[in-house]
Amino acid sequence: MGEGLMRERKLLEERAKPTTLSSGRSPMQYALLSWDAMSSMLRARLDALPGPLRILEAGCGRLWPLKLSVPFTLTGLDLDPDALAARKDLDRAVLGDLRTVEFAPRSFDVIYSAFVLEHVSGAQQVLERFVRWLAPGGMLIVKVPDRDSAYGFMTRLTPYWAHVMFHRYLLRQPLAGTPGRGPYPTYYDAVISERGLREFCGRNGLTAPEVYRQCSYATFRPVRVAAFLT
Ligand SMILES: C[S@@+](CC[C@H](N)C(=O)[O-])C[C@H]1O[C@@H](n2cnc3c(N)ncnc32)[C@H](O)[C@@H]1O
Repeated sequence: MGEGLMRERKLLEERAKPTTLSSGRSPMQYALLSWDAMSSMLRARLDALPGPLRILEAGCGRLWPLKLSVPFTLTGLDLDPDALAARKDLDRAVLGDLRTVEFAPRSFDVIYSAFVLEHVSGAQQVLERFVRWLAPGGMLIVKVPDRDSAYGFMTRLTPYWAHVMFHRYLLRQPLAGTPGRGPYPTYYDAVISERGLREFCGRNGLTAPEVYRQCSYATFRPVRVAAFLT
C-alpha cells in the first residue's frame, strides 16, 4: 500500500471513532464506518429483533451479505434473471421490478436494499412501497451512494460505458457489465442522498432515521450513505 493511501486510511480510521454532536443526536449517527464495522452493526441490530424475521432483500443481486443468528426467511427480488439464478439461499425468489411488483401491506419485518435505488428511476415511489410492505416496528435498511458526494457527482457526470470500463480495467472485473453482473445504469433520483432520505423520512412518519457514512478502502469504495429507517 502506498504511503499516501496509508496516511489517508489512518485519517479515516481516526474519523471512524464516534463523535458526539452538539445536536444531542446519538454519537454514532454520523460516524464514518468501515465496511466491516457497518456489517457487524447491521448483524447485531437484526439479531436483536424478535425472530423469526421475514426479510425482503430488494434488488438482491448475487449474494446475501449478512450471517445472522436470528431465524429468518429470505425473499429475494430482482429484475435480473441471471443474478437471481445465482442465488441458492433464497426461501422465495421473485423476478420482478420494485416499481410494479405486488406484496401485501405489512408482509416483511425487515427490508434490506443495498446499492439498488440509485439504479431506479422512480426511487421515491419504491421507498413508499417499502414503507407499506413493512410490518409495524419493522426495519428498513437502505444503502446507497450519496448523489451529492464527489462519487455521486462523478457517476452522474460520466456515461454508462465509462462505468463498465472502470470496473473492467481499473477494478479488474473482466465480466463487469455482462448479464447478471454490474455495473448497472444509474439514475440518482433526488431522494438518493442524505438530504433526500431525511426529507423522505420526515414526510413519511419515520421519525428518527439513523444515517451512517461508510467507507471501505479495502475495495477502494468511496463514502456511501447507509440509512436505517425504522
Ligand atoms: C449494484 S446491484 C446490487 C446487488 C446487491 N444488492 C448487492 O449489494 O450486491 C443492483 C441490483 O439491483 C437490481 N435492480 C435494479 N433496478 C431494479 C428494479 N427496478 N427492480 C428490481 N431490481 C432492480 C439489479 O438487477 C441488480 O441486481
